[in-house]
Amino acid sequence: MKVLIATEKPFAENALKAIKAEIEQAGHQPVVLEEYTEQQSLLNAVKDVEALIVRSDKITVEVLDAAPKLKIIVRAGAGYDSIDTVYAKQKGVIVENTPGQNANAVAELVFGLLVYAVRSFYNGKSGSELGGKKLGILAFGNVGRNVARIAKGFGMDIYAYDAFCPADVIEAAGVHAVTRQEDLFRLCDIVTLHIPATPETRQSIDYDLVNLLPKGGIVINTARKEVINEPELLKLLANREDIKYITDIKPDADAEFAKLEGRYFSTPKKMGAQTAEANFNAGVAAAKQINAFFADGCTKFQVNK
Ligand code: 3PG
Repeated sequence: MKVLIATEKPFAENALKAIKAEIEQAGHQPVVLEEYTEQQSLLNAVKDVEALIVRSDKITVEVLDAAPKLKIIVRAGAGYDSIDTVYAKQKGVIVENTPGQNANAVAELVFGLLVYAVRSFYNGKSGSELGGKKLGILAFGNVGRNVARIAKGFGMDIYAYDAFCPADVIEAAGVHAVTRQEDLFRLCDIVTLHIPATPETRQSIDYDLVNLLPKGGIVINTARKEVINEPELLKLLANREDIKYITDIKPDADAEFAKLEGRYFSTPKKMGAQTAEANFNAGVAAAKQINAFFADGCTKFQVNK
């Protein structure tokens, strides 16, 4: 079988080597399309492949229609909002993700960004510390749990809300469970977002929610830009000069946010999963899942059932 590794944002070199080796040892043929800038390159490359490994690459109706032999897509990562899973299902194409494989990388970046933010973006002025601060984790999935683990090392007081994870699971991890997401914002000095982009969460981080933060509050987003109601957040930041917004996903209104000097920071490109380890773990897991699918029909990680 031909397995296309199509990544607009490429994997680390060692990861790509391991992914290709994994595919080859199962008797399949890896093909690589990296750093493509035109959708047409992807449309050409999918023409004769049976399997596809992607990152945040957009897998649209056009891409699926251009791939008549395609049986399985594995998103090497967690969020699959960039894939038209419904249309894939209609076409009988399995979509899977590799949950947890890049979670530590994203969680570590949360703290890299947070230290930068509380130390006044390293401008030489006195900042503050994370120790003793209340951290609110919005969604206690793989990334949220890694964030909690690291936050303990910083001596933070940790809270979490998750619409789907039972409170006793959160409490068992040594984290206070709250019953409403509003309570996280009301209680915590810093709220870190780890929700996927779904119809329920899109634009859910809005004026009223962020306005609940205590004085000097910080929202940090290493999840998706779509969960932010950008016009409302901009309005809130204009009205509350004590609040900071830190993100790993450049907002559409980046230029507007950038005017908020000292209270806004965005990485130039999404960096959360950009480590050799995360690329290796997620990429090799994707290759193994494809091999297992072709070997015995395993669809354990299917997200479009
Ligand atoms: C994910 O959903 O796994 C992360 O957001 C990482 O995405 P990336 O592979 O596009 O960096």
